[in-house]
Amino acid sequence: MDSSLLFPIVILTSILFLYYYNRYEIAFPELTDKVVYIENVSVHEKIEFAKCRVEIWNNKTTWEIPRIETLKLLAKPGVTQSATTEGLSDGQLRLVSAFLYEDEIVVTTTRQRPAQTGTPVYCRYFDCNRVEIPGSIYKSFFMPLTSVHCLRKSGASFISLSLSDDKPQSPIPLTHRLFKQPPNELGVCAGQIYGLDKKWMQIAEFVEHHKLIGATMFYFSVFEIDGMTRMLLDEYERSGFAEVSIINTEYTGTAAMLRHMVQIHECFYRARQHSKWLLNIDHDEFLMPREKPILTYIRSLGDHVAELVFTMRRIAKFRDSIEVYHNIKEVSSDIQAVNYNLTHSPSYQSPKVMIRPDKVNMMIVHWSYGMEPGYKVHAVPANIATLNHYRTISPKFLWSDFVAKLIKQDVKFMHFTLQKEYLKRLRENVAQVVGYVFEKHDVTCENIPEPIQKYTRPYLKKMKICE
Ligand SMILES: *[C@@H]1O[C@H](CO)[C@@H](O)[C@H](O)[C@H]1NC(C)=O
Ligand SMILES: *[C@@H]1O[C@H](CO)[C@@H](O)[C@H](O)[C@H]1NC(C)=O
Ligand SMILES: *[C@@H]1O[C@H](CO)[C@@H](O)[C@H](O)[C@H]1NC(C)=O
Repeated sequence: MDSSLLFPIVILTSILFLYYYNRYEIAFPELTDKVVYIENVSVHEKIEFAKCRVEIWNNKTTWEIPRIETLKLLAKPGVTQSATTEGLSDGQLRLVSAFLYEDEIVVTTTRQRPAQTGTPVYCRYFDCNRVEIPGSIYKSFFMPLTSVHCLRKSGASFISLSLSDDKPQSPIPLTHRLFKQPPNELGVCAGQIYGLDKKWMQIAEFVEHHKLIGATMFYFSVFEIDGMTRMLLDEYERSGFAEVSIINTEYTGTAAMLRHMVQIHECFYRARQHSKWLLNIDHDEFLMPREKPILTYIRSLGDHVAELVFTMRRIAKFRDSIEVYHNIKEVSSDIQAVNYNLTHSPSYQSPKVMIRPDKVNMMIVHWSYGMEPGYKVHAVPANIATLNHYRTISPKFLWSDFVAKLIKQDVKFMHFTLQKEYLKRLRENVAQVVGYVFEKHDVTCENIPEPIQKYTRPYLKKMKICE
């Protein structure tokens, strides 16, 4: 290092040190003689909790995992492992969620070890005081990949897992999925949220678009998130349109693709018994029905379909979405559906699917496994609906050179039009939610009642709110 820099650095460090030292270490030696101790806190070694009351819905024990034969088959080496080899091979066992269904509990984890699908893991049950229920250990196995099916135990309020009969992970609460009928007809997996670039604008358009076509629930999995996007997700949770899973792995960085299965299994089990249909896409993909509303179409197919396959087309996006909120006008003019319409013919290559989470036994990125007998896959023709996948032409994204590649392959590009009425509603709804979350104004002296101004004058002056 340039030695002429050293001196200023030493001075600066000393100033900072003195600043913080003074800030945190103010002493009043004149008080030492005067202070007397008047009480002691007593922390006992063991707390006597009140006895647990077992609610009627929790007074149930089961003896067999539903569809165990199908799960065992799918867990066999080579059956589904190759579909999930994207996973990291040494992931720690960390618990994400536990879903309580009528006849079983499924625990989702971050342990993605493709080669170990089907290997043993132990379900551990805890009462309302987080005390392990004696004699309750149940030996299960990983299937699919990161998830574990456990029996129900009467009185269990928390659950955990362990790889042997040693100390389990700290237990987590059960998320209720005891519905006679799923409360949502259409739910949407919104991909993984990771990296610190601000995605609130894209996510607002994603949610508001799918609300317009009939979705009522959005499942987000958050690995890393910026504060603004988190505020938007909080707003969707507050209004009952979203559930957010927070996933904390031991890895640094954003090797996003390599955690995709953690998010997908989490979304699949979160949606089971909660959404009748589950659209498994990312937040840059938009299902676009033509003419007929998508729910009308799905209902018209009858009750024997458990997977719908959609065609996909990419839309070239020529600049990044806005990341900083300035005003609603700017938000209204940044709607992707309005700004970009360059695309190619839709195709079933790398399709995305909508599934019945209660009728299939595993979901991966592009299809499902282990469909219940009597159910079928249905390919949705492009003239009914297709997926619009917005892809930014920017070297910072994976596969962003698709336009150049497709031109080389002689693929024809085209423009499409969207209904004016749809675009108007989309723009209004995005502006409404984004405005609610981010449109703020400063506190001024006039906002503060006179008596409070009097009382807090030095503080208000320091904050430059009042003179
Ligand atoms: C608090 O605990 C200390 C150390 O055990 C003891 O010396 C002191 O008398 C106690 N004070 C009171 C108020 O009980
Ligand atoms: C639980 O159910 C059993 C019958 O299955 C019943 O005998 C018992 O009283 C119930 N316990 C509670 C706490 O409701
Ligand atoms: C497609 O978008 C361009 C601007 O990018 C616009 O000029 C054109 O009118 C649009 N075409 C259709 C068919 O909407």
